[in-house]
Amino acid sequence: MGKQIRLDRFLADMGKGSRSQIRQAAKKGRIQVNGQIEKQTERKVDPIDDIVTLDGNLVLYQIWEYFMLNKPQGVVSATEDRRYRTVLDLLQGEKRKDLFPVGRLDMDTEGLLLLTNDGELAHKLLSPKKHVDKTYFARVEGKLPKDAIEQMARGMVLKDQTPVRPAKLMIAKTGSVNEVYLTIQEGKFHQVKRMFESLGCRVIYLKRLSMGPLTLDSTLKPGEYRPLTQEEITALKSSRENAGEDGQ
Ligand code: URA
Repeated sequence: MGKQIRLDRFLADMGKGSRSQIRQAAKKGRIQVNGQIEKQTERKVDPIDDIVTLDGNLVLYQIWEYFMLNKPQGVVSATEDRRYRTVLDLLQGEKRKDLFPVGRLDMDTEGLLLLTNDGELAHKLLSPKKHVDKTYFARVEGKLPKDAIEQMARGMVLKDQTPVRPAKLMIAKTGSVNEVYLTIQEGKFHQVKRMFESLGCRVIYLKRLSMGPLTLDSTLKPGEYRPLTQEEITALKSSRENAGEDGQ
């Protein structure tokens, strides 16, 4: 037997309406639990063992949900914000209340953001001790020093004296605006921007391409999202389960 939850929460979590809509549906006899009409939406059900139907259709409870979002610029990586749209506002049909973004991308950063309600996985991916690789594509203004790759590889000290771990820089295009790929293992505040600032350059565009084994689906336009595939979920979970506290 799993953890019991209220019937209205069960149906609301699965996007079947607000609690008051669900109450109304129950009053009309549209909800059944284990083949019996159920009018008390505050009663508890077992999400795994009990059979819940709405209008005769089986509703399966998914405990954990995972979405890959291509975060657009101009939205904040938070669950709520007084002034700006959040990444959760982009999830149209998904009404679950307990989803949250795994980590943060700056308001003007685009790219891969995982949204889930699986706190344990989020913790593993974000733990500084786990050293999960995150790869970014960046357009960088200014002249990159000749030894930029080595400086990044050695592990640098930011302007405010914060040390960062070794990072892998790949320079795809040079010019007044350089195009680069940078893989870092931490997630310090504005880290990529500050690393380039320490080299005397300025990031003018930033996009996250991958996080651990998860790669941004190139068919997703900014603002679009999709559920993770079972393979992606398994890869994320197993990569972190196999990693020790030092990320090895
Ligand atoms: N580094 C940054 O500077 N910004 C981000 O959004 C992510 C990494």
